[in-house]
Amino acid sequence: MKPIRIALTKGRLESKTIDMLERLGYDCTNARKKGRKLIMPIGSGEIEVVLAKAADVVTYVESGVCDMGVVGKDTIMEKGGTFYEVADLGFGKCKFALAVVKGKNLYEGYHNLTIASKYVNVAKNYFEQKSMDVDIVKIEGSVELAPVLGLADAIVDIVETGTTLKENGLVVAEEVCPVSARLIVNIASMKLRKKEIEDLIDKMENDVQKRRAKEA
Ligand code: PRP
Repeated sequence: MKPIRIALTKGRLESKTIDMLERLGYDCTNARKKGRKLIMPIGSGEIEVVLAKAADVVTYVESGVCDMGVVGKDTIMEKGGTFYEVADLGFGKCKFALAVVKGKNLYEGYHNLTIASKYVNVAKNYFEQKSMDVDIVKIEGSVELAPVLGLADAIVDIVETGTTLKENGLVVAEEVCPVSARLIVNIASMKLRKKEIEDLIDKMENDVQKRRAKEA
């Protein structure tokens, strides 16, 4: 039987996803000692893990070359796409926030605001909901620099611990929405490998419930 191929987001979500797969009983030695490998079997070969950048996880799952994926809601909101979002995995928790230089009143004056973000669609949708016209500047990383350097009035970005904002003299002005890791499934795979995929989703959801119960 062909393994179920799962695309995992490299970096912050990677080890948390591997931890979860281990709790589900899959031997993840290959993923723990991967070196520079990007594709590897786990368990007794019934799952194949693919390590990819967040936006590429969506691309691989959407196209069907991966059956499932674990990716942040931030990427899903920014990139969109056609797939099933089947579970909130409850880790990788952070939020989207609008942040400004400490002491700045964002809404004084009548000029159009300039908002810097790596997440231009998220920023655009947020201000559209508020019926506000803003200019959006795409920044690829360390977006905190933009308001500090005077390029933007504010940023829309991920805030996890808040340390990056604090250390750069910024504060949250508005919370946009919470973010966490999501499990996504290719539409055709969901039909063709229904039983295996549903079993895996059930196991993951069980794990989420157990962790929630512990936290409560
Ligand atoms: C993200 C985000 C912030 C930081 C927030 O950046 O863009 O810069 O993490 O985390 P904190 O609230 O715990 O300080 P990331 O490290 O993903 O890199 P990037 O700036 O290149 O996007």
